[in-house]
Amino acid sequence: MSGNRTFTMVKPEAVENGNTGAILAKIEEAGFRIVAMKKLHLSEDRAGKFYAVHSERPFYGELVEYMSSGPIVAAVLEKSNAVLDFRTLIGSTDPSEAADGTIRKLFAESKAKNAVHGSDSDDNAAIEASFFFADLEQF
Ligand code: RTP
Ligand code: MG
Repeated sequence: MSGNRTFTMVKPEAVENGNTGAILAKIEEAGFRIVAMKKLHLSEDRAGKFYAVHSERPFYGELVEYMSSGPIVAAVLEKSNAVLDFRTLIGSTDPSEAADGTIRKLFAESKAKNAVHGSDSDDNAAIEASFFFADLEQF
């Protein structure tokens, strides 16, 4: 059975460009409830740990540098079928391949600077939520 929570980050370029509010509005309009949220600046070390699953990929260094380049907004979201529905809402990793109306189509600059993160499984959603938030911070 699919779970009802996912984890997201508004990535540095979207925060820098003043798109945090517009992106959160899209998320709420799509029926997701914000369970937890905070703005923070990841160190390179913390960004590297978050994306450790990609450490062998050619873009890992660029990804870690980018994700620690400025503040992000991290959030836990709730909705039925949260992980899959959120991936549909954000669109393909590369915004040039993302469907019209998706968050990445609307706000992403490039495949690397693609505006938002979304968990890829229920297990990773739980791991990623606990990376940023204690149980007592999730409502
Ligand atoms: P995310 O984890 O951030 O939600 O993105 P995703 O599942 O759609 O894509 P994933 O394969 O997990 O890649 C993680 C992030 O790495 C950057 N990336 N850059 N330059 C490149 O070819 C490349 N490929 C991936 C993106 O920021 C991507 O979201
Ligand atoms: Mg991913």
